[in-house]
Amino acid sequence: MCIWTVTKGAAAWSCIRLSILSVLLVLLLCPLPSTCHPIAPGVATRSVARLSRAANASSDTVVGRHVRSYNHLQGDVRKRKLYSYQKFFLRIDKNGKVNGTKNKDDLYSVLEIKSVDVGIVAIKGLSSNFYLAISKKGELYGARDFGVDCRLTERIEENRYNTYASAEWRNKKKPMFVGLSANGKPMRGKKTRRKNTATHFLPIVV
Ligand SMILES: *[C@@H]1O[C@H](CO)[C@@H](O)[C@H](O)[C@H]1NC(C)=O
Ligand SMILES: *[C@@H]1O[C@H](CO)[C@@H](O)[C@H](O)[C@H]1NC(C)=O
Repeated sequence: MCIWTVTKGAAAWSCIRLSILSVLLVLLLCPLPSTCHPIAPGVATRSVARLSRAANASSDTVVGRHVRSYNHLQGDVRKRKLYSYQKFFLRIDKNGKVNGTKNKDDLYSVLEIKSVDVGIVAIKGLSSNFYLAISKKGELYGARDFGVDCRLTERIEENRYNTYASAEWRNKKKPMFVGLSANGKPMRGKKTRRKNTATHFLPIVV
């Protein structure tokens, strides 16, 4: 990653500048560890391009934590609960933990669903402020900041329930879905299937 020039001093400086640049880039893209998991170099470039396109931060953007604003997030906004086929409300608690609850009054199950792209949504817990996310490994979690893990493809299935799959990550070319098991536990994306009702949710108006 270094451009070697004639004098040693200059060469070293190029190296330092390059590494500072990459550190800045990483900081810019990864405000918190919870939003960014290590990604392969090839994937990284794609993600970076996608993220910057997706983010399209407005002119008042300030680089740092929690201060970015995203134009694309000002699109269609729906306040909903996601009610699973197995009769759990999906909740994201204040620690970013995702699971299901049978309690109709659980504030952590009130979500905000925003379209961020054609067919792609961001789902945020209104009480916790965490985004519903699927990591590259397929873990379901709450992300403090919006990132590639939070881009979910929303699709209406044949039984009129919706599925939410990671728009970024796949497992052996198969989509990884948001899913809650029969006892309300978060499912690993790798274990989820479109046909499995554990991945089926009805968005209910709050
Ligand atoms: C960002 O959004 C503005 C409008 O809000 C648009 O004019 C511009 O082309 C977009 N840039 C990218 C890179 O998508
Ligand atoms: C979900 O997590 C909360 C908080 O940790 C816990 O109280 C609750 O029992 C969990 N729900 C299920 C269905 O496991």
